[in-house]
This record gives sequence, structure tokens and C-alpha cells, in this order.
Amino acid sequence: MMAVLSTVVALVAGFSAFARSQLIQSQETADVSNAENSLTLIYQNNLNASDDRNHVGALLLDPVSQTSAAAACASVNETLLPKSTLQKYHSDFAYALSYQDFAEYFDAANAFYTENGSANNGSYNAGLVDGSKIAVASGGNTFIGHRNQKSFQSLGIPYANNPQRWTYSSHSGSEDCLSLNIQTPYILKSGSKKSLRPVMFWIHGGGFTGGTGADPLTDGGNLASKEDLVVVSINYRLSTLGFLAIPGTDISGNLGIADQIVALDWVRANIASFGGNPKQITVIGGSAGAGSVRALLGSPKAIGKYQGAVAVSNLGGRVTLGLKGDYRTLYSTYYTINQSYAIAGSQIFSAAGCNDTDISIQIACLKQVDALKLVSLPTVARYVVQDGKFVNTPKLILATRNRIRSSTRNDSTAHVPVIFDVTRDDSLKVAPGINSTWAQRIIDSKLFPFYSTGNLTLDSFNVSRRVATDKTFRCIDQATVYAGISTYVFEKAYFYQMERTTGGYDPNKLGGPANNDPNNPYFRFHGADVPFVFGTLSKIREPADLYYTQLTTGYFASFAKTGNPNPDLDYLRVRGYDKVADSIRETGAWNEVTRKGKEVWLLDYPSRSGSFVDVDQCK
Ligand SMILES: *[C@@H]1O[C@H](CO)[C@@H](O)[C@H](O)[C@H]1NC(C)=O
Ligand SMILES: *[C@@H]1O[C@H](CO)[C@@H](O)[C@H](O)[C@H]1NC(C)=O
Ligand SMILES: *[C@@H]1O[C@H](CO)[C@@H](O)[C@H](O)[C@H]1NC(C)=O
Ligand SMILES: *[C@@H]1O[C@H](CO)[C@@H](O)[C@H](O)[C@H]1NC(C)=O
Ligand SMILES: *[C@@H]1O[C@H](CO)[C@@H](O)[C@H](O)[C@H]1NC(C)=O
Ligand SMILES: *[C@@H]1O[C@H](CO)[C@@H](O)[C@H](O)[C@H]1NC(C)=O
Ligand SMILES: *[C@@H]1O[C@H](CO)[C@@H](O)[C@H](O)[C@H]1NC(C)=O
Ligand SMILES: *[C@@H]1O[C@H](CO)[C@@H](O)[C@H](O)[C@H]1NC(C)=O
Ligand SMILES: *[C@@H]1O[C@H](CO)[C@@H](O)[C@H](O)[C@H]1NC(C)=O
Ligand SMILES: *[C@@H]1O[C@H](CO)[C@@H](O)[C@H](O)[C@H]1NC(C)=O
Repeated sequence: MMAVLSTVVALVAGFSAFARSQLIQSQETADVSNAENSLTLIYQNNLNASDDRNHVGALLLDPVSQTSAAAACASVNETLLPKSTLQKYHSDFAYALSYQDFAEYFDAANAFYTENGSANNGSYNAGLVDGSKIAVASGGNTFIGHRNQKSFQSLGIPYANNPQRWTYSSHSGSEDCLSLNIQTPYILKSGSKKSLRPVMFWIHGGGFTGGTGADPLTDGGNLASKEDLVVVSINYRLSTLGFLAIPGTDISGNLGIADQIVALDWVRANIASFGGNPKQITVIGGSAGAGSVRALLGSPKAIGKYQGAVAVSNLGGRVTLGLKGDYRTLYSTYYTINQSYAIAGSQIFSAAGCNDTDISIQIACLKQVDALKLVSLPTVARYVVQDGKFVNTPKLILATRNRIRSSTRNDSTAHVPVIFDVTRDDSLKVAPGINSTWAQRIIDSKLFPFYSTGNLTLDSFNVSRRVATDKTFRCIDQATVYAGISTYVFEKAYFYQMERTTGGYDPNKLGGPANNDPNNPYFRFHGADVPFVFGTLSKIREPADLYYTQLTTGYFASFAKTGNPNPDLDYLRVRGYDKVADSIRETGAWNEVTRKGKEVWLLDYPSRSGSFVDVDQCK
């Protein structure tokens, strides 16, 4: 009948919420300890927030004898799982435990101790689980986290000393300035390195002047729980504080990029203590975060520190169409320090009233300016520059690798798998800044036919957003992956276009589809990918929205695990992710970009395979 009982199950309940962790004071006590036990949080997460009330999580502890089971639970401030709960949520537990076996985290010959008692099914609005405070020791520090219904979270961890203004940060200290957040399904036993999970390292966007790693839309808890990953999101210095560059001084710019690399170093040094594998890190960022990923792909200080890269809506801005280029161009074509200074140097000094003729006196003056005032001046620095240390080429080098693993290869760019994408209507503005002469040329070219719905406002926006999307996003990103695989610079590359979105950046207030029905026409705007990638969708308009986020998280998680976004069908079966498996069986694989096959994966539920879009228009 029963196999040897050698593992404990304790019940956990609660619901996701945000809270900051703090560095533990030496006298502070935690409720839960990983000194004796690894803690695996299992939760059958379908990403349907309104369904959370119908699911419970549980903790799995390391094997112990039956007589010690209750005590082991008590030592993590929990009780054995009631049998009635197990019965009530039988299907959830069956999937979650089958997956533990499939992933070979637990020996299939073992069973789990449970207890019967009254069920606690978790409530939708519950916050962090009471008494779940856990201390994780790493690198001489101890970090306090909590858990909710779905995962463990340690938020607001300082990864660097509070840096002096315009100096590089370094990771040794403890002042709460530059911080990162970790969400993990797994806190391993202190000192162990067993069963480490892949890590996703998220770099937020916001034009290098705004944004935060603590955006609820990019909260990593759902992704960590559904896909068994460790998700890290970081903050870095922004605006003039992070990007001021002054020629002939040691303020050479890219401090924000340098911060990202310091955070990456912190993660490599510490993430194993949070269950993450430091040798399996995927850097992923959106918008300016994608621009950051692009910079990290070419940064000698970052190459080798991550194993995969995803640039979600990287901007580039072609300088054809008679345009000299604009601010957006500079995400992919880097100013020299002098060029950056010409745009955002003396203007900042004068606006701040730092008008001395001696640059060192001017800098000393600027250092005294209140940070908030500094970033609110009419001119701010926001450009990645060629500083010769973190970024030392005018653009990402995609040429001259020639042969895979050739000893003559060019190592200016990371040789890793990459994903680039656009949303279908990624353009940021209606008017692409093209004058009437050139607009007429675009019309005469017949490359952008007018698409009429009878609503001229909508239709003229539509055609100009197509030009703008191509100009700012599509052309450079398609060209990047194509060049990168043609020269073997990238290990492999995938490209997708988001075909289903909610919200997104909508400065023209065009709104979503009529009647909130995604089957009606609507624009798929910039930034609208992100909730789907993190499984943080707040509104489900139709079931396909939910299946779509299940599918999208599945693709990204698979990429983080293997460098290939196509999830393993056995994994999907074991986890009970049927809607994802159905879609993948129906559509087949998302193919990588090759010299011959310029595949764009038109990501939807179900997805479709297509070819590079507007190739002629991009020429
Ligand atoms: C455990 O379950 C048994 C049978 O279902 C029941 O008789 C007993 O009262 C339960 N114990 C508790 C503590 O609820
Ligand atoms: C389960 O959750 C629902 C919704 O919060 C609640 O009404 C119900 O009492 C709970 N059941 C148990 C057994 O706790
Ligand atoms: C267990 O959690 C409760 C709150 O639910 C807390 O009051 C108590 O101190 C914790 N016990 C231990 C041993 O940490
Ligand atoms: C339109 O832009 C092009 C390219 O910048 C320029 O050569 C041309 O003079 C402009 N025409 C007008 C009418 O401004
Ligand atoms: C950059 O600016 C510095 C200081 O103003 C100047 O000495 C130098 O010649 C400039 N470099 C170039 C390439 O223009
Ligand atoms: C600094 O120079 C700017 C531009 O010349 C001027 O507008 C501003 O009033 C000056 N500020 C001070 C404090 O002299
Ligand atoms: C890589 O390519 C860049 C740009 O073509 C070049 O400057 C650099 O010297 C090359 N590096 C190697 C190792 O070939
Ligand atoms: C045309 O489209 C715009 C943008 O969606 C909308 O605001 C406007 O109401 C539409 N006009 C008509 C007549 O439907
Ligand atoms: C915009 O135009 C394209 C054709 O270029 C069309 O497929 C799409 O439905 C249009 N979008 C809207 C919202 O009308
Ligand atoms: C999401 O969960 C709610 C509550 O259980 C349920 O009514 C709804 O049908 C679910 N949505 C989908 C698309 O499965």
C-alpha cells in the first residue's frame, strides 16, 4: 500500500502582495528558517487572478522520518497538510507533485506526510502569509523575505553601496539605494546547491528617465510560481544621475548601465542562496530595458555573465526617410561623450545655475543640486554613450564572426540565444516627424497603402503608425536578428510580433477595441507585451486572453531554461498546462530566424507563423 513516507507537506495560504524586505538586524528573528530544510512552494498557477481563491499552495520539506514530520512543519511555523485539503484540491496537488517527480526534485518512491484537519483554502485578498518571514543568508549578509500564496519574495534588496553622485556603484555594502527584487518558488537548505532554477533578470523601461523594478505589472511572483523560475527585477540610476557624461573628466556616462552590471554581479554571487542558478541567467528588458539588453550584448563588462537575452521592443530609429535620426535612434546608435555633452551637458549646468568657467567647480556645484531638481530640469542626460569601458563601440557589432566557434571570431558581442520583438503597432507617436515632401514620397512609393475603415482619423493614424513602427522598431530589430544569425554572432535568434495586447502606451487616446472585444480592430501598442510575459494580466476580456498569457509565459520560461522558446510537451502535460500544449500542437514550433527562414512568430492564441514584415518598406 503506502510507500515509505519520508517527506512532509505543510499548508500555506495567502495571496500576492507587495512588501519590502529589509536587511536583517542581527537581533531580528525570522519565523521560518532554511537551516534544516529546503522549502519548495507548490501552487498550481493558471494566472487567472480571480481563480486564486480556488487554489491553495503548500510547502514541501526535505525528507524526514514520520515521527519528526509534525516537528519539521512546526520548525517552519506550519502544520501538516490536512487530508481534507489534499482531497479538496486533489487535482492541483496531483499536478504539482507529478512535476516535482518529473523535474527529479523529489524521489518518486517517496510519499508525503499529511494530516487531516480543517481546510484553509487561501483567500483572494489575503496578503503575505503571517509568520512566513524567512531569513536567507548569502555572502555574509542575511536577507529577509516572506511568502505569499504563490512564491517567496525578497523585495528591495540593496545590491550596491549607496554610490556617491556620478561614481560607479560597487556591490559590497548595505545602504538602501540601488535595489533589486527576487521572487522564487524555492528556498534551498542553507549551504545546499541542489536543483537550482533558471533566472530571469528583468530590466525595466521608461526612457532611461523613469520606470521601476517594482511595477506590479512586472511582479515576478506569478512567473516564478507557474514556471518554476527565479525572477529578479532591478532598479538602476536614471536620467542625469545615471547618464551624465562630461568630456575630459571621470564622469564618463553609462552609470545606469554600470549599475545593471553590478546588479548582475550581485545576482551571480548570491542568487544560488535563493534557489537560482548563476550559470543560467537570461537578461530581459522592455523599451529602454531592451535598449539596455542591447548595450549589455555588446558590453565587455557584461558578456559572459548571462546565457540568454531578450529585447522586448528595442528602439533604434532609422536615419533614412530623410531624417537625421531622433532621440529614439540613440537606443541603438551611441553618442560619443562629446556628442552627449553637446545635447545634455552645458544646458544642465546653466539650468542648474552652475555657471563657473572651471569645469571642476561646475561639477562640484552640480553635485550639490537636489536630486529631484536635477532630474526635473528641462534638459536631462538619458543617452547610452561610448564610454570606452561599458560600451566601446558606436553600435552593436554584428559583423565578422564568420564561423561558429572559430578561433578568429569577433567577441565584441555576446554569443548567446536572443529574442527580439515588436508589438504590431509599437510606434510611440502619431507623427513620425517626416516633412510633407518626404511624406509625399512615402505615399508615392505605394509601400504604405491607405487602409480605409471609413474613419479618417483612425485610418490616417493607422498608416502613420505603420511608418513610425517600422522606422523606430521593426526595421532595426528585424535587421539585428538577421545580421546576428547570418554572421553567427548570435548563437540563435527568435523574433516575434505581439498580436494581442491590452492597454499599452496610447498617447493619442485611441483606446482599445470596441466593446472591449479583442475581435474588433484595435492597435497593439508599445509596452503592452509586458503583463503577458509576467502573467500579471488584470482583465480577461475573453478566455483566449488567459490562454495567451499562459502560452506567452510558457515561451519565455522555456527560453530561460533552454535557449529555445518552445516548451517541452512532456513538461506541459505533467504540469497540466493543457491550453498551452493544445496551442503548440496546433501551430507547431516557433522557428528560429535563419538565413533562409526569416520567421516572425505572430504571437497570439493560437499563434501563427509569418515572415519578416515590411521588408521592402525597411529598405
Ligand atoms: C481526521 O479525519 C478523520 C476521518 O476523516 C476524522 O474522524 C478526524 O476527526 C479528523 N481529525 C481532525 C483533527 O480533524
Ligand atoms: C474558501 O474560500 C472561500 C472564499 O474566501 C471562503 O468563503 C470559504 O469559507 C473557504 N473555505 C474554507 C474551507 O476555508
Ligand atoms: C508563527 O507565525 C505567527 C503568526 O502567524 C507568529 O505570531 C509566530 O511568532 C510564529 N512562530 C514562530 C516560531 O516563528
Ligand atoms: C524635408 O526633409 C528633407 C530631409 O531632411 C530635406 O532635404 C527637405 O529639404 C525637407 N523639405 C522641406 C520642404 O522642408
Ligand atoms: C571632446 O571634447 C574634449 C573636451 O571638450 C576635447 O578636448 C576633444 O578634442 C573632443 N574630442 C573630439 C573627438 O571632438
Ligand atoms: C547661468 O547661465 C544661464 C545661461 O546663460 C542663465 O540663464 C542663468 O541665469 C545663469 N545662472 C546664474 C546663477 O548665474
Ligand atoms: C570586432 O569588430 C570590430 C568592428 O568591426 C572591430 O573594431 C574589432 O577590432 C573586432 N574585434 C576582433 C577581435 O576582431
Ligand atoms: C474614429 O476613430 C477615432 C479613434 O478611434 C474615434 O475617437 C472616433 O470616435 C471615430 N469616429 C467615428 C465617426 O466613429
Ligand atoms: C490598420 O491597417 C492595417 C492594414 O495596414 C489593418 O490590417 C488594421 O486592421 C488596421 N487597424 C485598425 C485599428 O484599423
Ligand atoms: C477565471 O476564474 C474565474 C473564477 O474561478 C472563472 O469564473 C473564469 O471562468 C476563469 N476564466 C477563464 C478564462 O478560465
